[in-house]
Amino acid sequence: MTKIVMATNNAGKLHEATEILAPLGIEVISQKEAGADCEPEENGSTFAENAMIKAKAVYDIVKMPVLADDSGLCVDALDGRPGVYSARYAPKGSECETLLKEMKDVPEQERRASFQCVVAYIDGERQFTVCGRCDGNIGFEKKGTNGFGYDPIFMYGDKSMAEMTADEKNEISHRGKAMKALCEMLKK
Ligand code: IMP
Repeated sequence: MTKIVMATNNAGKLHEATEILAPLGIEVISQKEAGADCEPEENGSTFAENAMIKAKAVYDIVKMPVLADDSGLCVDALDGRPGVYSARYAPKGSECETLLKEMKDVPEQERRASFQCVVAYIDGERQFTVCGRCDGNIGFEKKGTNGFGYDPIFMYGDKSMAEMTADEKNEISHRGKAMKALCEMLKK
């Protein structure tokens, strides 16, 4: 099994990447397990820049294949916010309530949003990025308890992402799509 270090301290992302990549023959280990105790400053202005910043920082320490995911929620009615600032939009655990409040006067038909994810990959020979996107709507209340972050208010059809099983979410999610694109690149 190929071993890849994931440059993240986010347990939700690590768990999802592990589940998505295991059936494809890739074992994901956390940067902590690999001995990279760092949290690089994500000062890029795009998901791709930030994903590369994280992948490089960890690769420089571990010198083995590394993947990094930079992702976020882009809301049409907010001109794409919180976007690259999704992790810093509100204190952890209160992001859903804060966004629902900001969108309280936005009608149903204007609540379109997308989750976007860029995965950066680096090993000794290659470095590239791949991306994935999932389109949906911001709900009017939190629904479900699975997943993490904005999942309870991101509606995909009539279910929130937090009402889906892990397999259901991985099948349609921005991260699932980006990870599958990563596998295709690695097979080349
Ligand atoms: P970053 O990639 O570390 O900058 O953090 C991305 C942030 O976007 C996370 O902390 C979550 O708030 C949000 N996010 C990214 N992917 C998801 C997801 O699959 N579900 C819910 N929230 C997500």
